[in-house]
Amino acid sequence: MVKNRIDELIRIINQASYEYYVLDNPTMTDQEYDDYYNELLSLEEKYPEFKREDSPTNRVGGEVIDKFEKVTHEKPMLSFDDIFNEEEVIAFDERIRKTVKNPTYTVEPKMDGLSGSLIYKNGVLIRAATRGDGITGEDITVNVKTIKSVPLRLTEAIDIEVRGEIYMSKDSFEKVNIEREKNGEPQFANPRNAAAGSVRQLDSKITAKRNLDFMAYFLPNPEDYGIETQSESLEYLKKLGFVTNDKLNTVAHNVEEIIDDIASLAAKRVDLPFAIDGVVLKVNSLEDEALLGFTSRVPRWGIAYKFPAQEVLTTLKEIKFTVGRTGKITPNAIFSPVHVDGSLVSKATLHNEDYCILKDVRVGDIISIRKAGDVIPEVVEVKLERRQEDSVPFEMISICPMCATPLIKKDANHYCPNDECPARNIEGLIHFVSRNAMNIDGFGDRIIEDFYNMGYLKTIVDFYSLKNYQEELMMLEGFGNKSIQNLLDSIENSKKNSLDRLLFGLGIRYVGKKTAKILAEYYQTMDAFLNTTYDELVSIDNIGEMIAESIMDYIHREENLNLITQLKNLGLNMQYEGITTVSNSAFDGKTFVLTGTLEKMTREEASVEIEKRGGKVTTSVTSKTSVVLVGKDPGSKYDKAKTLGITIWGEEEFLKKL
Ligand code: IVH
Repeated sequence: MVKNRIDELIRIINQASYEYYVLDNPTMTDQEYDDYYNELLSLEEKYPEFKREDSPTNRVGGEVIDKFEKVTHEKPMLSFDDIFNEEEVIAFDERIRKTVKNPTYTVEPKMDGLSGSLIYKNGVLIRAATRGDGITGEDITVNVKTIKSVPLRLTEAIDIEVRGEIYMSKDSFEKVNIEREKNGEPQFANPRNAAAGSVRQLDSKITAKRNLDFMAYFLPNPEDYGIETQSESLEYLKKLGFVTNDKLNTVAHNVEEIIDDIASLAAKRVDLPFAIDGVVLKVNSLEDEALLGFTSRVPRWGIAYKFPAQEVLTTLKEIKFTVGRTGKITPNAIFSPVHVDGSLVSKATLHNEDYCILKDVRVGDIISIRKAGDVIPEVVEVKLERRQEDSVPFEMISICPMCATPLIKKDANHYCPNDECPARNIEGLIHFVSRNAMNIDGFGDRIIEDFYNMGYLKTIVDFYSLKNYQEELMMLEGFGNKSIQNLLDSIENSKKNSLDRLLFGLGIRYVGKKTAKILAEYYQTMDAFLNTTYDELVSIDNIGEMIAESIMDYIHREENLNLITQLKNLGLNMQYEGITTVSNSAFDGKTFVLTGTLEKMTREEASVEIEKRGGKVTTSVTSKTSVVLVGKDPGSKYDKAKTLGITIWGEEEFLKKL
């Protein structure tokens, strides 16, 4: 019977994958595997009614979704505190010994990917989620199903949650980057970014091609399975069909053994097929774990030891000068790209003239690079003994590299004094997103400068087409998927802003926040404003000749009118919404998050009321949130607010405060 054959093929192929991925002991040739696979595929095509959830053919992906649904984790997905040296390892052990007699520890490689939670019902994978902020993650089930080392069906028909790392092997990382280079796409900086970007694809076919892997390392509810130690958890995971780091995980009985095991992992690091950025230590006995418990943020029973920053040698190819938003000139070291702690880097700041002279950097020098604070690359030193005889000492430039204006020197820094310099454009962009202008949350000055330098932003219109580059942006070093998503959401939200914010945001000379409001109130629409005359302007209270002249100058320039037309076409609101500010200290300067359904007004209306009173409304609860306004059937934001101890208002309280 066809159904029986399909069942049999699924069993044979899944068994072969288990032997290949988990036991690292292939029992089938590639040809045999392909034959079984193709037979299954053609049977499933002919008889779709017999296609099963756990069929390996599901791994090619194909499902395309619009967005990732949010999911709340049963138990928060925490991470450990980081430590960086031997003393801290000793201190950790001493601290544990205050609570626990003779602790033993598992010593596990710290996989450099992103953590994921997998939920199985009756042994079948039904949901996979990202960690997100630890409380709420995103449903990435369709994508995780494409990962070959994730079992679609366990060896036991149980209900269980499994946590581990979704990562990209060094091999797949190289391949993906070669492919991207061929297609003229930006390269991934490191395997972690590549994994994070790949697992958050809306088209699971793309994820399937990226060849991700999963390493299981944690059971949130081990007691449900009669497990008493972390090592037993790892063994059980393997038995269920997961890949674990069974060749690298060890158990240490004292601090000396921990330190030895760390050294041994550090020595193996370069030869491993995947990136690791440290070692995770966990108290082995779960009873001891329970005794140790948690601080307000992290478990006390474990810690992450991070490998020290790597120093890598490379050749300084060029010193390139960039102009900051204030006109400040920064020399940057541009060197042959090198991998430092898992990311490919090719430039580092040299701050200013004095710094360059102090370090005595010269083009052609061999320099050593490391990542300061784990992210930003810095030049440690020049290898003077390897300097070429004909090397030329550093010399500061005297004219602006952007506009050729002679530079002026203030203290240690050089500045371009030209107001029209492209660097000023950056300032304009920063002004546009600022709180009193379009109030686009999440854009620091640095991000704008980076986006400008990378070509994503040239004029304010470009903010609204950033969403076309969502995928690329998510790959950028230092930007999580979530932060890019938040950024794009707040850009989209800003389209609804009242005309006064837009007028202020345009950066018309002498049009400050107050003037923008007066103008918006008077003209009501952008069109009316653009059709004004000098005489009409000066007839308005508080608008003097200087402002009127500046406005007339602005609205007579073709490029400005084009810009406004483009903004209009992009769907920005061009009307005054009549919001008048009300002073109220319960709201002014505070950050609000809304969750659940309000009875007396919509959430949008509530947001308007909050903003009228000088408050800000954001979408996610963080330690910076001042108040969470909770309606009926609140979501996970409510739980998170409670966890973080943030002030919570019900609707009634909110109305009273209004
Ligand atoms: S255990 C409560 N084990 O590193 C923490 N985590 O700070 C439970 N990681 O966010 C996680 N390798 O993403 C654990 N062998 C390992 C790990 C590991 C990498 C990640 C994980 C977590 C962070 C630990």
